[in-house]
Amino acid sequence: MSLRRIATTPFADQKPGTSGLRKKVTVFQQPHYVENFVQAIFDTIGAARQGATLVLGGDGRFLNRQVVQTTLKMAAANGFSRILVGQGGLLSTPAASNLIRISGAVGGIILSASHNPGGPDGDFGIKFNAANGGPAPEDITGAMHRRASMLVEYAILDVPDLDLDVVGEVTLGDCTVAVVDPVADYAVLMRKLVDFDAIAAMFRGGFRMRFDAMSAVTGPYAKAILEGALGAAPGTVVNAEPLPDFGGHHPDPNPVHAAELMAEMLGAEAPDFGAASDGDGDRNMIVAPGLFVTPSDSLAVLAAQAHLAPGYARGLAGVARSMPTSRAVDRVAKALGIPCYETPTGWKFFGNLLDSGRITLCGEESAGTGSDHVREKDGLWAVLVWLNILASTGQRADAILRDHWARFGRDYYTRHDYEEVDAGAAQGLMQALRDMLPTLPGKVFAGLTVAACDDFSYTDPVDGSVTAQQGVRVLFAEDARAVFRLSGTGTVGATLRVYLERFEPDVARHDAETQAVLAPVIAAAGEIAGIARHTGRDAPSVIT
Ligand code: G6P
Ligand code: ZN
Repeated sequence: MSLRRIATTPFADQKPGTSGLRKKVTVFQQPHYVENFVQAIFDTIGAARQGATLVLGGDGRFLNRQVVQTTLKMAAANGFSRILVGQGGLLSTPAASNLIRISGAVGGIILSASHNPGGPDGDFGIKFNAANGGPAPEDITGAMHRRASMLVEYAILDVPDLDLDVVGEVTLGDCTVAVVDPVADYAVLMRKLVDFDAIAAMFRGGFRMRFDAMSAVTGPYAKAILEGALGAAPGTVVNAEPLPDFGGHHPDPNPVHAAELMAEMLGAEAPDFGAASDGDGDRNMIVAPGLFVTPSDSLAVLAAQAHLAPGYARGLAGVARSMPTSRAVDRVAKALGIPCYETPTGWKFFGNLLDSGRITLCGEESAGTGSDHVREKDGLWAVLVWLNILASTGQRADAILRDHWARFGRDYYTRHDYEEVDAGAAQGLMQALRDMLPTLPGKVFAGLTVAACDDFSYTDPVDGSVTAQQGVRVLFAEDARAVFRLSGTGTVGATLRVYLERFEPDVARHDAETQAVLAPVIAAAGEIAGIARHTGRDAPSVIT
């Protein structure tokens, strides 16, 4: 067994985005590409890695096993003394976050491109989570980028691949590699937070549900917890086996990509509850019989009802949402008399709020909801809390949502994505928007009057750090809002996201079609930003 120091040259593009370094598989397949970035992570951890524990796992996509092996050999060569790796190289993102926290690890490496397609032509990603279990903050990812830009060598053990399929401990150089059951510790945590007995009784009473794991990492988790511990009928979890190409699925849980689930839930034979998760298990989609629950509404419902779950029985300290997420949760916070924070897009911005105890629950329009139990959003957790609410109230999911709207009003919400737009054109659109901000207030577009607008800037209340230029928001006097920002997770060109919402307090008008209600807001947004002019597109590529 020998430690080798391999000479290398830096890659210019190893700059982590919203959620780690995410690129096409073919980019990661370049010689030394993976090794360089992993070394940059280790160098950024610095001396703290000596004798430390590292958590490692991924969502099972193409390259996962290979990169796990490389990372193990490099971690052993870089001074870690213990590595916890999920069996088969698998760990969902929330389970990895939990393992980091309970093992006292210095951090973890999660291999995933989240909801982006997998396979040889798909995407891959490497993300570092810090000791609190959360995505590395920007000063750390910035340091990784700087380190990667000047890297001249990396260290790796010259050893054969380890067997990752057998749970147990093996020695690798001076390091112990523990191959762990990826589900066990996570299931223990869930049992502490939600009332398994109440949910199991509901399943025994004939409650039917469908969980679509989209051939990604949550399959084993959902099978073990829903069908195993909670006694849901066998076959409740579909697409349960994680596949390197996700079986051709686009593992983004939304009505477009989870079309089969949507069709079933909107059909005559709809089960009582439908849910799906994404590639790495941090996102969730909730569908009531006949009714899709928009993620912003799901967050608001969870905030209003979380006290029904044992883990939240003492109430919530506060809540937070990302800026483009609808204001539905703000209304709940107001009613509960607790603070509601508005952060930039990206889970990492919740970290300080959670660590400092300012908030208990948080979520994003991008299908992420979570709590202070880990430092990532958690797809299956959200599903379980929903099940707890259904079991405790005995109400149907659609009734829960309608009652919520009746009490708080409904925030009609949609997101229009313009994918793979020319990057220069997208930047041009955003710049033009920023330039016109001072002139917008008072102007009327498609019958709506601009009341206020800005380019969102966030000052972290805990460490005082400022994050500017996080998206342009336009508030209309008619209690409507349009938000424009460029995606930070794409791998080809730029994706323009336009978030559109309008508040409707009148219960008699809660059953309208979302796109129709929002038509004036959509038209106003298109006019203000000159979307067609800048992008050459006359319609969005994806509407959710
Ligand atoms: C990842 C992050 C989320 C964030 C999302 C935004 O999933 O974990 O916290 O909301 O990216 O993606 P976008 O493509 O809109 O930048
Ligand atoms: Zn994800």
